[in-house]
Amino acid sequence: MQGIILLGAPGSGKGTAAERLRDRAGFTHLATGDMLRAALKQGTALGREAEGYMQRGELVPDDLIIRMVRERLEAGPREARYLFDGFPRTVVQAEKLEQTLADLGGRLTRVLLLETPRAVLIQRLTGRRICRQCGTNFHVTNVPPKRAGVCDVCGGELYQRPDDQEATIVKRLDVYAQQTEALIAFYAARGLLTRVNSNQGADQLVADILGIVQTDAGAAAPGAGAGGRKA
Ligand code: AP5
Repeated sequence: MQGIILLGAPGSGKGTAAERLRDRAGFTHLATGDMLRAALKQGTALGREAEGYMQRGELVPDDLIIRMVRERLEAGPREARYLFDGFPRTVVQAEKLEQTLADLGGRLTRVLLLETPRAVLIQRLTGRRICRQCGTNFHVTNVPPKRAGVCDVCGGELYQRPDDQEATIVKRLDVYAQQTEALIAFYAARGLLTRVNSNQGADQLVADILGIVQTDAGAAAPGAGAGGRKA
């Protein structure tokens, strides 16, 4: 089991890049935000507990997140190359991830910091639209669907995430600065951090990422079989 972390502010393009990397290079995408939204939709106890935090743009408590991720990794497959998107977000989560991977015979190979100016983050998040049916991500101007409000992939209805209102976006960016940016120093000290310019088109961003991760020991060649999946 190997892991790559996509670290970056809300709107830096973690989810967009992860979807493309999953399809092109066979990574397994593990996105804690998506897992929480699925729990919310299913009405599970975890979803009910997380809901208020997410609506306010705050972080869900570490113990809930750590348990959710650990259960997911324990379920396997053990040989997968995971792309962590939106996790870890605190130093406590990062320490627990290290421990969990070690327990399961795995390790982190790289942490990619996606860097984007704040004004661009806000423009991206206010314009984001998501398919209610298949989860595909669009943007009203950057990645517009062929027909407004309709998913190109499955014809499903596009919606705006409740936490993509501007006031909540500002709160999420503040939370990132206060609680998640500490991870930059944490991973730099471990020699794992690489900065990537994510203020460029998604195709070029993904090409840059593939160029970086190819140099990591044990990484399979890009395109060596799609077949990646969403965790
Ligand atoms: P989460 O779902 O993880 O949201 P986030 O980190 O705020 O990240 P986003 O999904 O908003 O942004 P992204 O970087 O993935 O950007 P995207 O690719 O979509 O978390 C939501 C909430 O859940 C949190 O607030 C918290 O409450 C809770 N939570 C989740 N994980 C947690 C954890 N570990 N601990 C505690 N709480 C947790 O792109 C955005 C838009 O820009 C899209 O419209 C896209 O089309 C467009 N775009 C993307 N890339 C480009 C590009 N290169 N060029 C042009 N447009 C682009």
